[in-house]
Amino acid sequence: MSADKSQFEQGHQPNVQHQEVPGLQSKLDPQPQTDHIPTPDGGYQLYKAAGKLEGKKALITGGDSGIGRSIAVLYAMEGADSFIAYLPVEEEDAQETKKLVEKYGRKCCLQATDLTSRENCKKLVETAIKELGGIDILVNNHAYQMMVEDIKDLDEDQWVHTFNTNIHPFFYLSKYTLPHMKKGSTIINNASINAYIGRPDLLDYTSTKGAIVSFTRGLSNQYVSKGIRVNAVAPGPVWTPLIPATMTDDAIKQFTSPMGRPSQPSEIATVFVFLASMDSTSISGQTIHANGGVVVNG
Ligand SMILES: NC(=O)c1ccc[n+]([C@@H]2O[C@H](COP(=O)([O-])OP(=O)(O)OC[C@H]3O[C@@H](n4cnc5c(N)ncnc54)[C@H](O)[C@@H]3O)[C@@H](O)[C@H]2O)c1
Repeated sequence: MSADKSQFEQGHQPNVQHQEVPGLQSKLDPQPQTDHIPTPDGGYQLYKAAGKLEGKKALITGGDSGIGRSIAVLYAMEGADSFIAYLPVEEEDAQETKKLVEKYGRKCCLQATDLTSRENCKKLVETAIKELGGIDILVNNHAYQMMVEDIKDLDEDQWVHTFNTNIHPFFYLSKYTLPHMKKGSTIINNASINAYIGRPDLLDYTSTKGAIVSFTRGLSNQYVSKGIRVNAVAPGPVWTPLIPATMTDDAIKQFTSPMGRPSQPSEIATVFVFLASMDSTSISGQTIHANGGVVVNG
């Protein structure tokens, strides 16, 4: 079944638009694809699930919108319950994710929390374990970015805030979750193509994404022999609220890939399904490049 070209004709650039940080999916035009996958004829088809995550429980940060929402929804289609974290101003988006997960018959718990606080990370893990009855899959997905062309204009406070948001919580959440994980559990970190291409106008963000790749490698080397796999995904351009909330007009106009279009969140979420499932049992410490065809090293 392939259809529905109306929501986001493949190959078309989204129009330039802007939102306040962190951005809301409800305000995006066009709406991104959450549970539909692009087809070769330029349309979309509903993701085909196969019970790959039956009975699993996932904690997903930034699960209200974009890639995180699509992960929660595809996980639900595959049989997993989710606990999603997001910022308080994103309540409306989070409620929509919950509705979509429940449409596929799974549970979705919500927690608005600022993960730059170590205490909030600890509380999030404790609450998620209580509400879900455990965590089999930790998806560290949230992030902050803001474009600045030159290091001379990159405020020191922004540098610190980006690190406090993008990498320190990955450490806290992994540290607090791992003692509760069983053999077969997985951690999946959202990195970025920018760690590999060295994007100059996102220096702080790009640096945190490099740290995430190295964190993934080191943590995998600690835990792979204990039966817990740790991997990362490095998306290229994906149409999500992060983009109109943080990028300039020119960057949005050039927001594309060698495929001739940005990716949909659903196309990245499929990789998070693969890495959480028994289809990837020999993969750990790796980064999968879901970037629309940019060939990178590493
Ligand atoms: N959109 C892209 O082009 C792209 C490309 C490469 C990588 N990524 C990565 O994908 C991941 C998801 O982003 P997205 O594009 O789906 O955008 P998104 O805006 O939908 O998701 C980012 C989420 O991060 C969360 N967040 C930010 N600061 C937070 C904080 N202090 N505490 C708690 N939560 C916080 C918010 O809930 C927000 O919804 C990010 O790690 C991003 O770096 C995105």
